[in-house]
Amino acid sequence: MASCLIGRQLSLCVQKNLWLNSAGCRYVSKAAAKTQVEYDYDGPLMKTTVPGPRSQELTKQLGDIQNVGAVNFFCNYEDSRGNYLVDVDGNRMLDIYTQISSIPIGYNHPALLKLMTNPNNLSTFVNRPALGILPPENFPDKITESLLSIAPSGMTRVQTMACGSCANENAFKSIFIWYRNKERGHNTPSEEELTTCMTNQAPGCPDLSILSFMGGFHGRTLGCLATTHSKVIHKLDVPSFDWPVAPFPRLKYPLEEFSRENAQEEARCLEEVVEDLIVKWRQKGKPVAGIIIEPIQAEGGDNHASPDFFRNLRNISRKHGCAFHVDEVQTGGGCTGKFWAHEHWGMDDPAEIVSFSKKLLTGGYYQKDELQADKPYRIFNTWMGDPSKNLFLVEVLNVIRRENLLEEVTRSGKALLNGLYELQAQYPGLLSRARGQGTFCAIDVRDAATRDRLLLQARDKGMLLGGCGDQSIRFRPALVFKEYHVHIFLNIFNDVLAQNK
Ligand SMILES: Cc1ncc(COP(=O)(O)O)c(C=O)c1O
Repeated sequence: MASCLIGRQLSLCVQKNLWLNSAGCRYVSKAAAKTQVEYDYDGPLMKTTVPGPRSQELTKQLGDIQNVGAVNFFCNYEDSRGNYLVDVDGNRMLDIYTQISSIPIGYNHPALLKLMTNPNNLSTFVNRPALGILPPENFPDKITESLLSIAPSGMTRVQTMACGSCANENAFKSIFIWYRNKERGHNTPSEEELTTCMTNQAPGCPDLSILSFMGGFHGRTLGCLATTHSKVIHKLDVPSFDWPVAPFPRLKYPLEEFSRENAQEEARCLEEVVEDLIVKWRQKGKPVAGIIIEPIQAEGGDNHASPDFFRNLRNISRKHGCAFHVDEVQTGGGCTGKFWAHEHWGMDDPAEIVSFSKKLLTGGYYQKDELQADKPYRIFNTWMGDPSKNLFLVEVLNVIRRENLLEEVTRSGKALLNGLYELQAQYPGLLSRARGQGTFCAIDVRDAATRDRLLLQARDKGMLLGGCGDQSIRFRPALVFKEYHVHIFLNIFNDVLAQNK
């Protein structure tokens, strides 16, 4: 399949040169058009509305097997390339949502396809080991070349897992184990602890808690869900823990224009609420062992906070002896213009735990030495990640470095945010609160119904965007999304907005 795809790329290169950009060139200079990604298409090309007839047929077929309420349309991944996702009806869309922000360098990147043609890699793709007990010979080297080469400051240990929720869930366990050992002063449990844990009772199963923030999203498994507070649909009917939830600052944008008001709002959340909650939960007999936070709340509506807010929160965690867990599942991997969003805070010691997934291709978490679980099988499952993802990640990192993609993200992010500022000035009744870091941008729409309509209209014009929070649109392009693509987006989005004035 890989060689077939590589062959197809050559013919598509020829087609690319013949194809005319139907979006027009209101924002595009000829020079800008030359900066496009080599293996990319030239623009969207729509044949039907979306979902088209073939997608509808397949949705019906799958509907007899699964709930398909969330299925948008079916995809043709063989024909998808670079920034463009092709569907089964032959529609080619500029993808600014990238599988919920999880495609680092576009579809079918030649560097990744090449890995598949190397016979030395075959056994890694064919045999999926139980990594915790039988890792392959090259595993330490590959993990050093991939994940450890991008480790956050102060962290030299990393644990791979299957997905973001799985990473956070196990990170919470690491935090609890660390906290109890700290309380005991040693790591030998009592007889009572050993017997009570088998029936879910204290002291073996202690009443510890994780503090999280309103609007945060950390996954849908049971522990993670207790720290997720973005949408009712995720939580309804599922039993949860009585863990403290602090308000996340509600800032005004652009941040620089409202720095005084925003600083007051952040101080209110930190001093009046976070510290109070930590004290209250200790008094309740449910001490806060850890604090989890996203550098930018994503699913909950792209809510930002300042580096000062995070630095102060980090200090509060230290003061109260709680582990600080930064969830970079959505923000990690370069989309903010730095590899980790927390790098924008400028700290040498940003956290005890940093979790990741999505653009990193594998889930997992970095941790400080003292958080490493003290015995085997305490943090464990069958696969504990997938070594084939490390092979891909090494190559993704090579591409990011070789092509200076973090600089590119900063450049195209600026163009995107400036474009959003212009559009919100042009359509003040429709758009507001444009915000972003790198290409991790968002804008609010008048109301949820209008937001949802805009997303569908944009899709029918060949542009895939995502929603987040109550009424926001989020932009999550791949790292190979250039200024040229920003211009295509702005032109099409402008047309959509004009229809909705
Ligand atoms: C910040 C954050 N944490 C955790 C998760 C859960 O990751 P997964 O869907 O891989 O379980 C997500 C998913 O969107 C996320 O955005």
